[in-house]
Amino acid sequence: MISWLILLLLIGLAACRDSKDGFDEFLSIKPLQDGRVDTAFNFTISDQDISPHSHLFPLPLVNLLTSPELDIDELHLSLSAGRWDYDKWHYPTFPQLGSSGAEVWVSHKSDRSQEKWNRVVHRISGLFCASLSTSDNTNHLLLDDKTWTYAQISSQLPCTENLTPFIALLPCKSAAGLGQLLNPHKIFDADYHSLALSMFNQGSGARLEIKVEAVFNPARVDQQRQYSTKAMFDRTVKQKCELADSSMVYFGLPPPPGEELNQDVWVVLPEDHEGEVKDGTIELDLMTTSKQLGLALIWPFQETFIYPRYTTKPPIQIRRDQIAGPVEETFTMKITIENTQDEDAQVSYLQSIPWQVKPWLHTFRIYGDSSSDSTSFKHNQAKADKEPYSLQVNTTLAPHSETIIECIYQRQFLKYTDYAPDIHRGIDIPPGFIRFEADNMTKVAYTTPMLVDLATPDFSMPYNVIIITSTVVALFFGSVYNILVRDFQLIPKKESKSD
Ligand SMILES: *[C@@H]1O[C@H](CO)[C@@H](O)[C@H](O)[C@H]1NC(C)=O
Ligand SMILES: *[C@@H]1O[C@H](CO)[C@@H](O)[C@H](O)[C@H]1NC(C)=O
Ligand SMILES: *[C@@H]1O[C@H](CO)[C@@H](O)[C@H](O)[C@H]1NC(C)=O
Repeated sequence: MISWLILLLLIGLAACRDSKDGFDEFLSIKPLQDGRVDTAFNFTISDQDISPHSHLFPLPLVNLLTSPELDIDELHLSLSAGRWDYDKWHYPTFPQLGSSGAEVWVSHKSDRSQEKWNRVVHRISGLFCASLSTSDNTNHLLLDDKTWTYAQISSQLPCTENLTPFIALLPCKSAAGLGQLLNPHKIFDADYHSLALSMFNQGSGARLEIKVEAVFNPARVDQQRQYSTKAMFDRTVKQKCELADSSMVYFGLPPPPGEELNQDVWVVLPEDHEGEVKDGTIELDLMTTSKQLGLALIWPFQETFIYPRYTTKPPIQIRRDQIAGPVEETFTMKITIENTQDEDAQVSYLQSIPWQVKPWLHTFRIYGDSSSDSTSFKHNQAKADKEPYSLQVNTTLAPHSETIIECIYQRQFLKYTDYAPDIHRGIDIPPGFIRFEADNMTKVAYTTPMLVDLATPDFSMPYNVIIITSTVVALFFGSVYNILVRDFQLIPKKESKSD
């Protein structure tokens, strides 16, 4: 009898384990050519059947994904600060990152609507302590296919309290596994950092990816290129996360030292690490290792790190410049896309421009080396008042060529009430980006955000006038009124009572 019970119990346990919940995590650390270090965390939770009783899938996101009024099919959120330097760092480990500010992409199962978008934005703003709701109605962009909506807010930078909700979604929080390395003091001190989340609805199940990417600069403090996991995160992985199916560290190694350039010799410490070296990367499985994580890369013959004078360029580069003129209220936006490869490249460029700035479409032109018959573009003029304008260009770049997209924009005169607070700072034009295929992957490269001065009235003037007028009136009126209504009376001199 008891053996039957045990058997049933075992079968039950096996069935529980079989529900195909999965949690995988990895950390990739790669040296960059200018002495910086790219670190990228990827935490993936998948669940075949999401319900409020899900084992690993975080409850707040279950509610978000199963809510019929939000109707989410896919959602991407990223919060980034700093500038990703494509010239020296090439592309980020995670293709969608590299922007500055906040970015939200939402796709619905059925058609989108303003109401759904507002609800989604408010819910995720609350969940991730980010003020995304400034994108309520004037900032977001509707993409061509009926379901996608996206918004960029380049002034919304992440800060320490944004990391906490991301850590709270991890099954082991920051108590075990790679989550222990998410040290806000270090990550927010990095040259570039980005927190991102992607959710995919998959039938009755769902998949969640939490990504954190940061670029550290070990040479900043003591001109030493050497770095270690311990120094970068100021923490170590003390114990593995028992809920994880896999927990990997990919520790990238620099190219092997040249025979003659003796100073480029590097060494990995500790020498008896338990990782496996594959294609210039140490792969360390934290589920089987017996030691705490502590890998270091040192250059023993290098006294101080000298920044390289030449760096290799990424295959495709993009730059966006603002040129004043030709008239005072206008400026020219010039987007340069460069292909440094030996092959053609098919790219697709997208940018959105806030409604406060208006394009002069007759000045729009694309020139350069790419053939014009492979180029198509589309302006999405605002249909309603205060909708952003968007530009989409698809083109094929010839090998070793430069393509330029140029247009003149006019800064609009706005109604008094349409000016945002602190308008003297200018308005932000979110980064534009290109998408292209490289190494069988879709890559994205962003431009930097742009700040445009608007023609702003001097908002303090009315107050100055009111204050001065009030003062003058108060002084004048006060004394005149005083004189007019003062009642003068003769007071008879009193007889002295002494006699
Ligand atoms: C993150 O890891 C998961 C599982 O290992 C993988 O399927 C996914 O492609 C990774 N995401 C990225 C952006 O590399
Ligand atoms: C550019 O390409 C994308 C995807 O390949 C497509 O969805 C879009 O409609 C194209 N845009 C133009 C203007 O041709
Ligand atoms: C890309 O995919 C093609 C075909 O699928 C394959 O032949 C090629 O080797 C892949 N290239 C890389 C860099 O993985």
